[in-house]
Amino acid sequence: MVAKKKLTPMLEQYLRFKEENPGCLLFFRMGDFYELFFEDAETVARAVQITLTSRNPNDENPIPMCGMPHHSVEPYLSQLLDKGYKIAICDQVEDPKEAKGLVKRDVTRVLTPGTVVEDSNLTSKANNYLGALFWDDARDAGGIAWLDFSTGQWAGLSSRREVELWQWMTKIGPRELLLPQGKKVPPQFSELGAQVTSVATGAYFDLSASANRVLEMQSVPDLESLGLGGKNELVRACGALLKYLEQTQKGNFGHLGEFKPLNLGKHLLLDEITERNLEIFRRLDGKTGLGTVWHVLDRTLTPMGGRLLEARLRQPWRHLSPIEKTLDCVTFFFEHDQFRSDVRHALNSVYDLERLSTRIFLGRAMPKDFIALRKSLSMLPVLKACLIKHNFETAPELRKIFKKWDAMDDLATLLESAFVDSPPPVITDGGLFKKGYNADLDEFIELNEHGEDKLRELHEKELKTNDIPKLKLGFNKVFGYYFEVSKAYKGQVPEHFVRRQTLVNSERYITPELKEMEDRIISASEERKSLEYKLFQELREVLAKARQRFLFMADIVAALDYWQGLAESARVNEWCRPVLHDGMEIEIEAGRHPVVEEAMGASNYIPGDLKMDKDRRILLITGPNMAGKSTVLRQVAIQTIMAQIGSFVPAKSARIGLADRVFSRVGASDNLAQGHSTFMVEMTETARILRQATKRSLVILDEIGRGTSTYDGLSLAWAVVEELSSRASGGIRTLFATHYHELTSLEGKIEGLRNLNIAVKEWKGDIVFLRRLVPGPADRSYGIEVAKLAGVPRGVVERAREILAKLEEKSQDTHSKGAVERASQTLLPGFGAPPIEVPEKLVEHPIITQLVDLDVDGMTPIQALMLLNQWKDMIKG
Ligand SMILES: Nc1ncnc2c1ncn2[C@@H]1O[C@H](COP(=O)(O)OP(=O)(O)OP(=O)(O)O)[C@@H](O)[C@H]1O
Ligand SMILES: [Mg+2]
Repeated sequence: MVAKKKLTPMLEQYLRFKEENPGCLLFFRMGDFYELFFEDAETVARAVQITLTSRNPNDENPIPMCGMPHHSVEPYLSQLLDKGYKIAICDQVEDPKEAKGLVKRDVTRVLTPGTVVEDSNLTSKANNYLGALFWDDARDAGGIAWLDFSTGQWAGLSSRREVELWQWMTKIGPRELLLPQGKKVPPQFSELGAQVTSVATGAYFDLSASANRVLEMQSVPDLESLGLGGKNELVRACGALLKYLEQTQKGNFGHLGEFKPLNLGKHLLLDEITERNLEIFRRLDGKTGLGTVWHVLDRTLTPMGGRLLEARLRQPWRHLSPIEKTLDCVTFFFEHDQFRSDVRHALNSVYDLERLSTRIFLGRAMPKDFIALRKSLSMLPVLKACLIKHNFETAPELRKIFKKWDAMDDLATLLESAFVDSPPPVITDGGLFKKGYNADLDEFIELNEHGEDKLRELHEKELKTNDIPKLKLGFNKVFGYYFEVSKAYKGQVPEHFVRRQTLVNSERYITPELKEMEDRIISASEERKSLEYKLFQELREVLAKARQRFLFMADIVAALDYWQGLAESARVNEWCRPVLHDGMEIEIEAGRHPVVEEAMGASNYIPGDLKMDKDRRILLITGPNMAGKSTVLRQVAIQTIMAQIGSFVPAKSARIGLADRVFSRVGASDNLAQGHSTFMVEMTETARILRQATKRSLVILDEIGRGTSTYDGLSLAWAVVEELSSRASGGIRTLFATHYHELTSLEGKIEGLRNLNIAVKEWKGDIVFLRRLVPGPADRSYGIEVAKLAGVPRGVVERAREILAKLEEKSQDTHSKGAVERASQTLLPGFGAPPIEVPEKLVEHPIITQLVDLDVDGMTPIQALMLLNQWKDMIKG
């Protein structure tokens, strides 16, 4: 870099801002451009492929430079944010014309991936979270908080287990995460690719400063009212978020709503592994779109509706009441095709009310945002007209919405009268307002737009009154407007022509009248711009003040969109309304896996029945490869989740006992990136289920134990089934698919365990998949037949058959099926001695688990008593 003494004052100013914003690319406003210098210029030119030039090419040490016009900077910013850069925007904060010497500049905001608000940086149907995590080793407690700056929502939770916090953080998937300096990110989180920002612990996470920041921001007298009482670590995480906003947004974050801690008791909990295994948002290969539950389910039309669906799918409900209310509304939309189609038509033109309102509030809205807002508001009466035709006797929530409706006519009219239909891209250029909106402005517009006509009139007048051939009207930057006369006629110019410039063949003149008109035209253009800017600011203020009204209607639109979207999917895919209940039974008639069905076409999918009840709590499913075991397992889990977000389900009929958690684990899914071996991952996940599952949980285990040697795997699978059967007073509903046929001998020995298999037929040495779930164990795996189907060369298939025959012969001699039978007799408690000893740690009682997690400081005596009572009930069963 060039020594400082050689730099111009402007570059010195640049370097000062650069120093004040470490780690940021500095976008330095110069006139109509944002410029970058030195290393920043090289980085940006490379990253977004723009030309690198230099400020002083002839100097012996030229300064690298690149830049872009200020109005086309957005796409570059979003590319850079995507690449993980932070950007400080340094603007001119005084009018360059009024500046004495160097124009005053300041960093007006710092852009980071977790705090962006422009649509180009956001996915419309997904939240964009900035997260913070704080773990206190001394107190053995921690908290996480997350905030969507673009919508203003924020939430958090606390836990006594650090792994659980990371589990949640991974599920929330923030785009940017604040951590105290020195804190490391575990491998499973780092896979997400979130930007991790380490910040000074003292400055960001200090407890009392954090508490003050939260209280001030939320204007509440105490932390209890926000559900933060006694939750020191969560307060610190919140404090860090606010501090970061102070730093990056220069204090401009008054749009944040009320902090709402996540109430885990209200939700069906799905950990991130279950989400992944069930391919809810992403396929197992990490891709989004076709092949995911989201893809079949999402028929929302607005960003708000989409985000609501995402939030529900991440945290479905746990209790009957909200689910039933939703199902009532979805049913109404389902049964009224015309109504649904009309609502869909209107929703199509509703834009992102939440994010538009945020940008307006923060003063970062572009003219096109106001047009989008106007269009959205104009749809509210259309939506209302759809609703008014019904009385919603069967769907009270819809009636409530209608009663609370705020048509926002006042703002719609205001926007309608203010803005032209195709506004310029930026606010400062003028041309934004319609005629008739403001009388002063109309005058400037008239002069501005018709000034040239007036000049032409003057020109014609001069032509008429003076006999000068070839009298021309011209304009240049130095002299402004002038009349030009060729040299031959210069003697004929009248007295009021004042000479300004002599050229080779002509003379240029001005007249007092011309000068006056020119002044008026030029100042009209300036005055128009500045009046428009002022009017714009006033209008923005009005709209910013109405933020709560926008958010209120955004919620209503989101709800309508959510219901209609689910109803539309249910119609298109022929789903049925599930019956939910507080019991444990699950009864599905002619159920389908929505994603597999979508992929293969409805006519090719063979539906199946499934029943779980007191006598069928653990279903052990065997069957050949490719028969459809995994499909059935996932189908049950997905149907439960769909039902608990209030959606219809792919079946002829479905009765589903509410679940508090769904766990889905697939054996031997490699995860080398996390630094764990196949089997290690499988066992860690299994351990977690054994610790966390309760009586109300639904557990899906797909070939657990297959990632190790046969006997180790079999023994583990066996022990896991036993453990699940005895857990939570034997209540956990479990579906277990396995190729360990030996396990099928557990039927009759473990209460509630039933064998099922998926029927196949052998036909001329090939197998035909019937896809029917039938009672009893499968006879064998048909692995070799499936290999043949898959196109494994005939020689290999034949050889495999020979080997199999030999192996089976041998196993008859030594182990024999009877051996397993005998083993089961000795190993199973209640079937002869001795019972297997299960290590203490593995069977930690759920009450112990809860006790470890308990935040005693944060409880009232009444809460403690209630919990004691609950535990007592739990032990009683
Ligand atoms: N009910 C069904 N109707 C039509 N096709 C189905 C059905 N169930 C499964 N299939 C098809 O069979 C394929 C294999 O199913 P799945 O993966 O569930 O088999 P599996 O029994 O788990 O096999 P493996 O033992 O190899 O894991 C699915 O991808 C799907 O294409
Ligand atoms: Mg399978």
